[in-house]
Amino acid sequence: MLEAVKQYNMTAKLLHWVSALFIFGLFALGLWMVDLNYYSEWYKTAPHWHKSIGLCLFALTLFRIIWKKITATPEIEGEKWEIQSAKIVHATLYLLLLSIFISGYMISTADGRSIEIFNWFSVPGFGSFFENQEDIAGIVHYYLAFTLIGLAVIHALAALKHHFINQDNTLNKMLRIKQQ
Ligand code: HEM
Ligand code: HEM
Repeated sequence: MLEAVKQYNMTAKLLHWVSALFIFGLFALGLWMVDLNYYSEWYKTAPHWHKSIGLCLFALTLFRIIWKKITATPEIEGEKWEIQSAKIVHATLYLLLLSIFISGYMISTADGRSIEIFNWFSVPGFGSFFENQEDIAGIVHYYLAFTLIGLAVIHALAALKHHFINQDNTLNKMLRIKQQ
């Protein structure tokens, strides 16, 4: 049994904010890079970065989920329905993230090529598992990315509502540097 805490631990806070930053960044980079033309100097570099950062974030997210399981998490505050919806939203955010990583991998490796992570090492590709994998995974990736960002914005608005309207500890426990 994990002891009750009032704050997210430092590692959980860092993981949350670093991930949020990279997720918004990857979203913008993704939308920008698909419109680049062949003669742009970023034509190859931008997808290389998108995939490299994306897969590093995948590893970080797996660690984050394990970290969440093995360390104590503070209670969610609010009405019963708010607590229930926050739990569903948090789980859905994780689920969307994992599905985006998998669909991204399936776009990139449909032709059997591996993914070079920052030219450090490569993640092997296993080719297509079904017909038109690259296109289908591309559509899934696109819609899931929009759903994730939409839900993250609602999630952020809810956090701000708790902070400014309810004036409870919701945002502080994810933000405050000093442990109280
Ligand atoms: C949170 C993580 C990620 C987000 C938010 C994200 C978001 C996006 C977005 C918005 C696009 C543009 C889609 C379009 O307009 O068609 C895109 C494209 C793409 N993403 Fe991601 N992505 C993420 C992770 C990944 C990962 C891990 C990979 C691969 C390992 C990946 C591979 C790709 C590829 C190959 C494209 C180009 C698709 C195309 O040419 O249609 N992404 N991504
Ligand atoms: C892509 C962006 C984001 C994602 C994917 C995300 C995801 C999550 C997840 C999964 C949790 C549950 C706790 C955990 O597992 O660490 C959480 C908690 C939290 N997030 Fe976010 N978040 C994002 C952006 C934001 C932003 C922009 C804000 C604030 C303006 C915010 C405020 C909070 C707060 C206050 C909590 C604690 C909620 C509580 O325990 O009552 N998040 N977030």
